[in-house]
Formats: sequence, C-alpha cells, structure tokens
Amino acid sequence: MKKDLLKLLDLDRKEIYDLLRLGDQLKYEQHNGIKHHHLEGKTLGMIFTKSSTRTRVSFETGMYQLGGMAIFLSATASQVGRGEPPEDTARVLSRYLDGIMIRTFEQEEVETLAKYASIPVINGLTDFCHPCQVLADLMTIRESKGVLDGLKLCYIGDGNNMANSLIVGGLKAGMKVSIACPENYMPDQRVLDFAKGMDLEIVRDPREAAKGADAVYTDVWASMGQEDEKLQRMKDFEGYQINSAVMAEANKDAMVLHCLPAHRGEEITADVFEAHADDIFEEAENRLHIQKAIMVSLMK
Ligand code: CP
Ligand code: NVA
Repeated sequence: MKKDLLKLLDLDRKEIYDLLRLGDQLKYEQHNGIKHHHLEGKTLGMIFTKSSTRTRVSFETGMYQLGGMAIFLSATASQVGRGEPPEDTARVLSRYLDGIMIRTFEQEEVETLAKYASIPVINGLTDFCHPCQVLADLMTIRESKGVLDGLKLCYIGDGNNMANSLIVGGLKAGMKVSIACPENYMPDQRVLDFAKGMDLEIVRDPREAAKGADAVYTDVWASMGQEDEKLQRMKDFEGYQINSAVMAEANKDAMVLHCLPAHRGEEITADVFEAHADDIFEEAENRLHIQKAIMVSLMK
C-alpha cells in the first residue's frame, strides 16, 4: 500500500528516527558531492494555495538533486483555485506523477487528496500542521545536541500549526515539550488529546516555559490566512516574544529556532535572532535534506 506524510500523528517513533537518519545521510552525501539519484525519472507535483519560499525551493531543488523533477502548481494558475475538487485532482495527477506535495488551508483537503490519490501525498503545511518543518527542526536539534531523548523543547507564541506539530513530533521523539501561549490561542484539541499523560506542559508565562530549555522556538503571531486578525493578534501576543529575558531562563547553550519568515520586534528580538542565526539557517537548510529523505522513503 502507498504511504503518505499527512501529519506527524500518523508516524511512530521508529519512522521519525529512520527519516532523521536518512536526512543526515543525504546531507552528508550532498555536502561531499556524492550523487544520489534515487528518484531518477520521477516527477513531483507541488500544489500551493498559500505562499512559500523555503518549501517550494527545497522540494523543487531536492527533486532535482535526486535525479527527478518537480512541477509547481499554484492554485491560481491551475484548476485547483477554480474549485476542482481534491477527489478529481488526486485521480488526475496520479496518472501523470509519482508524488504530490500540497500546501493549503484545510487538513481535510490534504487527507481527501491522499485518499483518492494512488501516489504518495506529502503535507507541505496546513492550518493544522507542518510536519516537514518539524522533522527538519528535530534533525537540527539532534545534529547540534547529539540526542533528542530527554531534552526540553520550549515553544512560545500561537498554538498554531507549528505548535501542534512541535508537540507531536517532540513528544514522539522523546523530548519534553513546554508551550507558552495566551489562553485563547491554545494548540488543537486533537493534539492535546494525543499528549494526555505525556511530558507536555502548557503555561501562560514565556519565562516559565523557557526554564531549563535546550531549544527555544517561536513562530509568527499571525499565520497565512489570518492577515485580517493581525492588529488584534499584535495586542493579544504582546509579551510572547523570545528576548534576552526569556533566554536567560533557558539553558546556557540553548538553541533558538524559527521556521521563518521571522518578524523581528514581534515574536523575536533582532538581537536574539542574529545571535542564533547559525541555528536558524541550518534549520532552514535541513528542510532540503529531510524532505529528500521523505521523498526517497515514500517515492522510491
Ligand atoms: N518555513 C516555511 O515553511 O517557509 P515557507 O513558507 O517559505 O515555505
Ligand atoms: N504558522 C505559519 C508558519 C509558516 C511557515 C503559517 O502558517 O503561516
């Protein structure tokens, strides 16, 4: 049966670590000029109904480096944006392509696409989750710290797609997860249900959440599709920022991570961002390597 990557809730610990190991290997090979054309002659379709820099470029480049190619399908320039249902798009694209990556709003749309497609479907971000990003994040932390088990991952900000995926991915990988978010911006209930009885704490105070953290993470206060709420969110998230006071609570050698794009002066100060730019851009690079691992394991 074909396999998809729709959300981290669907993966077990072993599958996560297998991807991390393959990501490390492909990164090593790429950096050392060792060709790995595992997907020669294969084509990935990339459906985007939201903007992207990293996801688009890393998937497209990744396919090229694996010996295949990728086709960019924006919602506006395809029939997707004119309402062709995912059930039909899935069955049509399955007759041309070897895999589909989709970035969109509703998780439901991705699940339906996968149900009707006979080829692997990869979630490149929905309102519910961002699995590829969090696999890259885990890869980055493991690369720097050597392990994930027992480390404390702190996330400060909106209980959004990033928070949802960090909770699931962090806990499945053996980390402790601590979230600081405003009361009305909690992570998704499905994620909270999954985390019941596991090492997750959710607090209001960012400094409390950052205590003893090995990695401190944040994301924008207003995600794609929430542009209308921006002013209200600016008020509601005041104080939910990674700054030097928050970092003073974390471990001395704590990493700072951000999925990007970042808004300096909002969810993170410019000085903390720049002090940890090496971590943050390594994290962005690792999108390429981990997604190649995902594509090889699903599409080879
Ligand atoms: N982090 C991330 O997914 O970036 P893009 O929106 O640029 O793809
Ligand atoms: N929460 C952000 C993540 C961007 C990578 C968004 O959905 O816009």
